[in-house]
Amino acid sequence: MRTVKIFDTTLRDGEQSPGASMNVEEKIQIAKQLVKMGVDIIEAGFPIASPGDFEAVKRIAGEVRGATIAGLARAKEEDIKRAWEAVRDASRKRIHTFHSTSDIHLKYQFRVSRAEALKRSVEMVRYARSLVDDVEFSPMDATRTDIPYLIEVVEAVIAAGASTVNIPDTVGYTTPLEFGSLIKAIKEKIGDRAVISVHCHNDLGLAVANALAAIYHGAGQVECTINGIGERAGNCSMEEVVMNLATRKDFYKAKTNIRTKEIIRASRLLTRITGIPVQPNKAIVGANAFAHESGIHQDGLLKEKLTYEIMRPEDIGLKQTELVLGKHSGRHAFKTRIKELGYELTPDEVETAFEKFKHLADQKKDIFDEDIEALVSEGVAKIPELYSLVDLSVSSGMGVRPTAALKLKVKGRTVDSVEHGDGPVDAVYRAIVAVTKTKSRLMKFEVKSITGGTDALGEVLVSLEEGSRKARGQGADTDILVAAAKAYVNALNKLAAKKR
Ligand code: KIV
Ligand code: ZN
Repeated sequence: MRTVKIFDTTLRDGEQSPGASMNVEEKIQIAKQLVKMGVDIIEAGFPIASPGDFEAVKRIAGEVRGATIAGLARAKEEDIKRAWEAVRDASRKRIHTFHSTSDIHLKYQFRVSRAEALKRSVEMVRYARSLVDDVEFSPMDATRTDIPYLIEVVEAVIAAGASTVNIPDTVGYTTPLEFGSLIKAIKEKIGDRAVISVHCHNDLGLAVANALAAIYHGAGQVECTINGIGERAGNCSMEEVVMNLATRKDFYKAKTNIRTKEIIRASRLLTRITGIPVQPNKAIVGANAFAHESGIHQDGLLKEKLTYEIMRPEDIGLKQTELVLGKHSGRHAFKTRIKELGYELTPDEVETAFEKFKHLADQKKDIFDEDIEALVSEGVAKIPELYSLVDLSVSSGMGVRPTAALKLKVKGRTVDSVEHGDGPVDAVYRAIVAVTKTKSRLMKFEVKSITGGTDALGEVLVSLEEGSRKARGQGADTDILVAAAKAYVNALNKLAAKKR
């Protein structure tokens, strides 16, 4: 099976994504992760573009081993010289030079004839070859270039020494069928004299489809970025193209050198560094890419993964398929989750808890394990209530010292307390501690809204710790301070039950 080279341009075209600029240290971190993944060529930057870009390429060339380091250069002597200075310390180095070839670009942007563009391209490939053995040439806007002229340029730059010719769909204009035939025609002309690379932009959402069509027809290198970031709508997404080849080897008959288990780490590293989030439904690396909510799908998956899963989450470095419990989930997934959480329930108890769960799922978008635990422990395996809230009133506001007056039933006896605090929740919690004489520490306090609007049902989740014991408490009420008190009391009851 042939191997398609992965040319990663996250640090160059990816960085052209609005808001994606990275500093040198961050670029080195990404480059190291790319090597760990098995990327063949890293386009580390465009050295003439800025001193920062030059420094990043030079540092990566000097410090990162295990992949070819490429620097981008326009078909101009000063660009190529600068790219060479930046990549020269790499153990494997490449100069990637480019010149537009479409009439639109030649006429309106560069104001040169086709013949001049061809001559300049050939001369600059020769010049780059005088510096380095590995030279790549890109006829920019190739997919809007007259095909016979494009082939003439491709043949001429190969004769001048380019070992890779990259066919960019610079403006994301082509279609899989059209691009596939173009690559087929070029392949028929040049055979194995050079590697055909493809570089697809995603303006019409076809970058990956176009790249795959090209690979099918003989392209030997694909240019891509992590998470598909890049100029405008982005570039061909590396994880998508790699997982397509891995999943459909039978169809493409081609593989890559990528260690796919590193994919999720690379995706998250990039998100952390750039702050550019990945859409939840993005293929491969989106938060929902391996999350199933439908009851029918969950039932199938629990019986046999093959029913609804074409890739294993472990293949990209994730732990396992996530069965998201929501209103579309069925009993099978619910029962499985209860078991995973360590509960042994009778069929009747499962039924009661499932009904409660369906009711909650109608009100609440995300159902967490804590919610399931709360359902099970409150509704079914009810914990004894050592403490219960009888009454609460809180005064707070601008210029008012937050004060909570609380009535709590402790072992059947009602006890009062009035306490001040730094805020209203603090005052409530101090009052509860005064009454219960407990010594637990508040580890986590979360407020969520179950329903919408100003009369929303609020939910508070707290985590308490006392020595080695931990407990989570939950409380819901339209008054968020009452919900906070209920949650605290609920957690104290669980701690007391654990102690017993
Ligand atoms: O999109 C493009 O044409 C490019 C070239 C520099 C290869 O990024
Ligand atoms: Zn590009």
